[in-house]
Amino acid sequence: MAAATVAIRPAEDGDRLDMAQLLAAVAEERDGIATEPPVDVEALAMNWTLDGSLVAIADGGIVGQIRVHPSWMGFGEIGMKVAAHWRGRGVGTALVSAAIDWARERGLHKLSLSVFPHNSAAIALYRKSGFIAEGHLRQHVRRGNGELWDLVEMGLLLGPGEHG
Ligand SMILES: CC(C)(COP(=O)(O)OP(=O)(O)OC[C@H]1O[C@@H](n2cnc3c(N)ncnc32)[C@H](O)[C@@H]1OP(=O)(O)O)[C@@H](O)C(=O)NCCC(=O)NCCS
Repeated sequence: MAAATVAIRPAEDGDRLDMAQLLAAVAEERDGIATEPPVDVEALAMNWTLDGSLVAIADGGIVGQIRVHPSWMGFGEIGMKVAAHWRGRGVGTALVSAAIDWARERGLHKLSLSVFPHNSAAIALYRKSGFIAEGHLRQHVRRGNGELWDLVEMGLLLGPGEHG
């Protein structure tokens, strides 16, 4: 599919409900992210941490979102999602690139994330963005249906201060 015209900007107060609804919709897929239904959209929207949240805007609405959660240890953890009908058009790539810029500006030395091993789209996106697999956690996440899913840990060193 053709690349989309998408703008990435920091999340604002008025984005809370849209971001929560996007998370709830992706949770319904029970596939790519850890959150599963039911999602309390109102509570999620109210408690959303805006700092480190970036949104992708296309056709006047939010079509993707990424959050960098900075830790006191100097690395940031990311979580992201793109609306189902917008996938495969470069939105995820643009969000990861903007998150890397945000993390560098914040002085973080590394980004890390956890991804389910079956999530080939996400793993391809992270690899393309420079992340490498750093570990594999067995039967780490208990799903609503009782299944135990593995997790792959991935990381990206961000430059100055990098020790390899
Ligand atoms: C993972 C996700 C964020 C990717 O977003 P996206 O907007 O589709 O990503 P892009 O279009 O920028 O594609 C990035 C790369 O991913 C790969 N990719 C995309 N879709 C793919 C698919 N269905 N299968 C395999 N690889 C795929 C390609 O390598 C692509 O790069 P290319 O276009 O240069 O070839 C999106 O699929 C999503 O939101 N999934 C559900 C939630 C989720 O899994 N979040 C991540 C949790 S760790």
